[in-house]
Amino acid sequence: LANGLAATPPMGWNSWNHFSCFIDEKMIRETADALVSTGLANFGYKFVNIDDCWAEISRDKKGSLVPKKSTFPSGIKALADYVHSKGLKLGIYSDAGYFTCSKKMPGSLGHEELDAKTFASWGIDYLKYDNCNHDGSKPIVRYPVMTRALMNAGRPIFFSLCEWGDMHPALWGASLGNSWRTTNDIADNWDSMISRADQNEVYAEYARPGGWNDPDMLEVGNGGMTKDEYIIHFSLWAISKAPLLVGCDVRNMTKETMEIIANKEVIGVNQDKLGVQGKKVRMEGDLEVWAGPLSGYRVAVVLLNRGPQQHRVMTARWDDIGIPPSTNVMARDLWQHKTLKQRFVDVLTATVDSHACKMYILKPIS
Ligand code: GLA
Repeated sequence: LANGLAATPPMGWNSWNHFSCFIDEKMIRETADALVSTGLANFGYKFVNIDDCWAEISRDKKGSLVPKKSTFPSGIKALADYVHSKGLKLGIYSDAGYFTCSKKMPGSLGHEELDAKTFASWGIDYLKYDNCNHDGSKPIVRYPVMTRALMNAGRPIFFSLCEWGDMHPALWGASLGNSWRTTNDIADNWDSMISRADQNEVYAEYARPGGWNDPDMLEVGNGGMTKDEYIIHFSLWAISKAPLLVGCDVRNMTKETMEIIANKEVIGVNQDKLGVQGKKVRMEGDLEVWAGPLSGYRVAVVLLNRGPQQHRVMTARWDDIGIPPSTNVMARDLWQHKTLKQRFVDVLTATVDSHACKMYILKPIS
């Protein structure tokens, strides 16, 4: 969407994966505090996104959405002011139907103009727009109404289409939103995570600055995967130019979680200004090579072992990843934080354990 936003994929936090409907303004404020105190904000995590369940079930007399009195007594405007005072941005959630997916608050169908104006007046910076409980019409009929309403609302608001991929939003989302879900909801386990990466990958060619494929939010830190699996999760989201929306409780993170989501070099791949989504360039059984171009003739590469066998030897071939033959290449290992001493020509070979990956930036040298 040409609203001047999302030159690179959005980064921040969202309440859903960890808290589902158990949210309140105190927790949101503490999350904003934690994004700053942990340093995550400095790494780029600026959006604090409230998901479902923030509003009363009934609108007020004028038809406006009302923040739930028991959990958001100070209102959303006060929360936005607080979040802004920390140098962060506030996101909120609604639905292109009569009720949101939880059915615990109203959706915006038929109220798009008013809701967009309300969000803008509160100082909202990001809207996630879900697709539950609607009138049966197609998303391509309902979503543009909110796109236009946001464009008339007088404040630039990142627009996240949450259609779950059924109607292939990658094919039509770029003129309507800044990101579009390509998958159903992620869960905190290996199968769910890796299948979402797969489903998202097929739409790689549709991502570009201003509009990104969204394989759903991060589960890193929620406890259902091993450290190596979370490293794969973060590496694949980064190379896929996916939104990096942390989904754990950032007020109580382990050192390990922080090491993953605050890996500056991997974040750098995600935020590279070229904005080209990486994809699978070779698949051999359980072994996959993912690659994507970066600015400055560099290439990001993930060597992924999805299978049960340890110590698999994997090869990134210049042929597969778009580097001319005979080119000398310098390799930076993004998880070891080491530039390899060796120079590579035509191939780079490494050993990768079960459910683990290696991630590099390859840089041709003359
Ligand atoms: C849908 C979305 C989720 C979350 C929930 C909230 O399932 O896909 O990301 O927003 O609704 O109810």
